[in-house]
Amino acid sequence: MPVKTPAVESHQMLNMPCVYRSVVERIFMVEQILSEFRLEKEDLKEVMGRMQREMDRGLRVETHEEASVKMLPTYVCSTPEGSEVGDFLALDLGGTNFRVMLVKVGEDEERGWKVETKHQMYSIPEDAMTGTAEMLFDYIAECISDFLDKHHIKHKKLPLGFTFSFPVRHEDIDKGILLNWTKGFKASGAEGNNVVGLLRDAIKRRGDFEMDVVAMVNDTVATMISCYYEDRSCEVGMIVGTGCNACYMEEMGTVELVEGEEGRMCVNTEWGAFGANGELEEFRLEYDRVVDETSLNPGKQLYEKLISGKYMGELVRLVLLKLVNEELLFDGEASEQLKTRFSFETRYVSQVESDSGDRKQIYNILSTLGVLPSELDCDIVRLACESVSTRSAHMCGAGLAAVINRMREHRSQEEMKITVGVDGSVYKLHPCFQARFHKIVRELTPHSDITFIQSEEGSGRGAALISAVACKMAACMLTQ
Ligand code: GLC
Repeated sequence: MPVKTPAVESHQMLNMPCVYRSVVERIFMVEQILSEFRLEKEDLKEVMGRMQREMDRGLRVETHEEASVKMLPTYVCSTPEGSEVGDFLALDLGGTNFRVMLVKVGEDEERGWKVETKHQMYSIPEDAMTGTAEMLFDYIAECISDFLDKHHIKHKKLPLGFTFSFPVRHEDIDKGILLNWTKGFKASGAEGNNVVGLLRDAIKRRGDFEMDVVAMVNDTVATMISCYYEDRSCEVGMIVGTGCNACYMEEMGTVELVEGEEGRMCVNTEWGAFGANGELEEFRLEYDRVVDETSLNPGKQLYEKLISGKYMGELVRLVLLKLVNEELLFDGEASEQLKTRFSFETRYVSQVESDSGDRKQIYNILSTLGVLPSELDCDIVRLACESVSTRSAHMCGAGLAAVINRMREHRSQEEMKITVGVDGSVYKLHPCFQARFHKIVRELTPHSDITFIQSEEGSGRGAALISAVACKMAACMLTQ
């Protein structure tokens, strides 16, 4: 990494009065440590180029196995035309919560469609996440049963769309094996198995309701589909939440893993795994290595670990500990809480950066972590948060730019107008992530006119809408 110039020049310090000098000196040293997080435009172009290379390798049959970016076909072929109607059940598994939704897809005179949802959130107990697949899917079936009871619809056999936000190798829209868990899930006996089968078996084991599982999609795909209903140019879906990933519509002819040349198929990039072949080595810092080595999946999801909400707070915590060790923060003393893994939650990063300038919010967060900070401590903590979250936005921006530039080149369009549907807590809740992210993506994608839209309940609505299409297709096949 090139050595970055710190904001305060060392000669400025020399003529300062003693007390003042130590403040300036502290900031100087802090900025020097944090400067490692800064990525220059050239660095980002390099990341973008390497990402494009891995995307290409992921799509090709002969290089697919060794490619870090798997580019998984989703069997979502062309985004649906509206007006499918009826009640659907949607499940959303992929973060710390599991959601069950009842989605009513109806017709609307003005817009051609209307979607109404009722949903309930269930938190996933740690032992269900890291026990056996049977335990996890039994818990899911139990939640569905509870939801059906509450809404008095247990007697109905509804079509079900499952948003399952992990890498899945699909054989069809309703069939696919889990390649590997990500984001802290570890339930044994699921990897290598058909996920829809695991769900169907758990429902059968319970035996108190029936469901017709018609589609399984990744959350990026569900987001893209739900945003497509707002804007027909939406051909990219992206999540920056607990995990980070994107999907987009690829020309069928280049999706070598699936036969056929006509039209486009949605590809789930699974770009979070980028870096597994060493592509990020010179950009990974000591904090990234600790986060990775202490995670449930060391060596995996390295790009995601630089960006997503699962790791952002922990990265900040490690930076703060480094600053404490260097006696630049909290008088060189870390509280027990601060020494505890994951105690600095990602939502604190958003809260610190939302502080209006009076430092109250920062002070409160730090006191809950057992430290009584000075004003300068608060400012330093804010600088640490800004460094980690800005790098996240820029790294993620390089990934999206790689996708968009690829799409424009492959479509041989001089100017491409495209909409990106986005969801995820980091994107939606962090006060500055969006602005930094949009700016860098636009700088890296000349000749593309990009609109970003946020999906509302995209995971559930998208799963229901694609199920509506899947149902229709099945009906067509039956009546032929
Ligand atoms: C992880 C998962 C991916 C998902 C993303 C966002 O990267 O592997 O499937 O889309 O998180 O939830």
